[in-house]
Amino acid sequence: MKIDIDHFTKKLHGRTVLDDVNLHFDSEGKGLIVGLQGINGSGKTMLIRALCGLIYATQGTLSVDGQILGKDISFPPSVGALIENPAFLNEYTGRRNLELLSSIRGTVMQSHIDEALCSVGLDPDDRRAYRKYSLGMKQRLGIAAAILENPQLLLLDEPFNALDQDGVEQAAHVIQAQRALGKMVFLACHDAKELYGLSDIVITMKSGAVSSVENIRQAGE
Ligand SMILES: Nc1ncnc2c1ncn2[C@@H]1O[C@H](COP(=O)(O)OP(=O)(O)OP(=O)(O)O)[C@@H](O)[C@H]1O
Ligand SMILES: [Mg+2]
Repeated sequence: MKIDIDHFTKKLHGRTVLDDVNLHFDSEGKGLIVGLQGINGSGKTMLIRALCGLIYATQGTLSVDGQILGKDISFPPSVGALIENPAFLNEYTGRRNLELLSSIRGTVMQSHIDEALCSVGLDPDDRRAYRKYSLGMKQRLGIAAAILENPQLLLLDEPFNALDQDGVEQAAHVIQAQRALGKMVFLACHDAKELYGLSDIVITMKSGAVSSVENIRQAGE
């Protein structure tokens, strides 16, 4: 998978939320984890929203495998995302919520749902409705939903929020497993230890612009 971000600027209500971002990533089928860091309001979530096709450029382009979002395609062809608060239906179990999500596209088998739930430490047989989930359980379900359809591009905005120690370890394991499967993963995270431990490349955002790009390790290493 190849992502090319060229002179990407986004203005919202007169405010520049992304400022001339230029980034190029090629996972070459080996898997790549791109970490995003920066203070509150620096543009991490906006960049993830742009990668997802939730916002389009005011100027510049963002292309996925050569196809420009908002021009050639509306959103990436194979993407899973956890962005801020995931929306699930309160009255259904976690499993039923994932079934409903997957039935929209009809591509996922029941065993995938169980696998996704187990990978984030949720019990597929839990009878509790979503509204009775704790904050961390909701976050875990959000991660399960993001990986459910085996996307080539995985966008995770603060996936470790509200997770306990086991949850952080399980989520980190899920992210590494996605990398091993050859996926490209974008990970916005405030915890520098987790971010640097997982990422191949770390991007630092400042006032909507990229202030540094650090190569942590070579892809496939
Ligand atoms: N709907 C909106 N309209 C206009 N500006 C917005 C909107 N949502 C966010 N912003 C602004 O966009 C900028 C970038 O916000 P963003 O949410 O990407 O920051 P972030 O790096 O994810 O921060 P955090 O660490 O708090 O999650 C901020 O200045 C914010 O005020
Ligand atoms: Mg954010």
